[in-house]
Amino acid sequence: MAFTYFFRDMQTLEMIRDYALPVLKTRRFIHIWDAGCAMGPEAYTLAIILRENMGHMMFRNVKIHATDIEESDSFGKIIQEGIYPEEQVKRIPKDIFEKYFEKTDKPGYFRLIEEIRKCIDFQRHDLLSLKPIRKDFGLILCKNVLLHFKENERIDVIKMYHDCLTEDGFFVTEHTQKMPSELSGLFQQVVPNAQVFRKVKK
Ligand SMILES: C[S@@+](CC[C@H](N)C(=O)[O-])C[C@H]1O[C@@H](n2cnc3c(N)ncnc32)[C@H](O)[C@@H]1O
Repeated sequence: MAFTYFFRDMQTLEMIRDYALPVLKTRRFIHIWDAGCAMGPEAYTLAIILRENMGHMMFRNVKIHATDIEESDSFGKIIQEGIYPEEQVKRIPKDIFEKYFEKTDKPGYFRLIEEIRKCIDFQRHDLLSLKPIRKDFGLILCKNVLLHFKENERIDVIKMYHDCLTEDGFFVTEHTQKMPSELSGLFQQVVPNAQVFRKVKK
């Protein structure tokens, strides 16, 4: 269930870079929720993409709040340390890998550099509690999670996302996840070929 990998679904990530990032960059502080982050590759990939597209000073004001219900009780430690085995990092583009990963004392294990690690906070959280972790997100990324929920649960969780996004915030999910018709008035789809939505004012 916690299947994930670095640079998964580049097309959607590129849409975040091209459509959400220019808006987010106008903010002083950028809070992002990676909901259902598994053991962290998605949150770290997003951090790298943001860093690649903004300067060091602006990146210091980015916080990615990565959460997961975490049945295995190990995600927090993995994410906090930012250390991954070769098997999980070997498909990362070489230039990105060399720039953002460093060797560790343990052969075959690589650690994200401190600048990237510092921008991720992990906490255990159950989305079905419907309690948002804060209320000022510029972007909520929730991929390959909603499909595990019943239709009414999906609707409630997406409503919660709407409530805790800033006025012009973005909600992004995977290709195969359609916006329930009951919620179409809450969001506007930004591009036809990706599930990137912008909050519509109530
Ligand atoms: C397939 S992984 C997706 C990981 C990542 N988002 C991606 O797309 O690569 C699904 C994750 O959703 C988490 N999850 C499932 N139910 C959840 C819930 N109620 N609240 C928070 N996370 C949940 C699982 O623990 C798992 O790590």
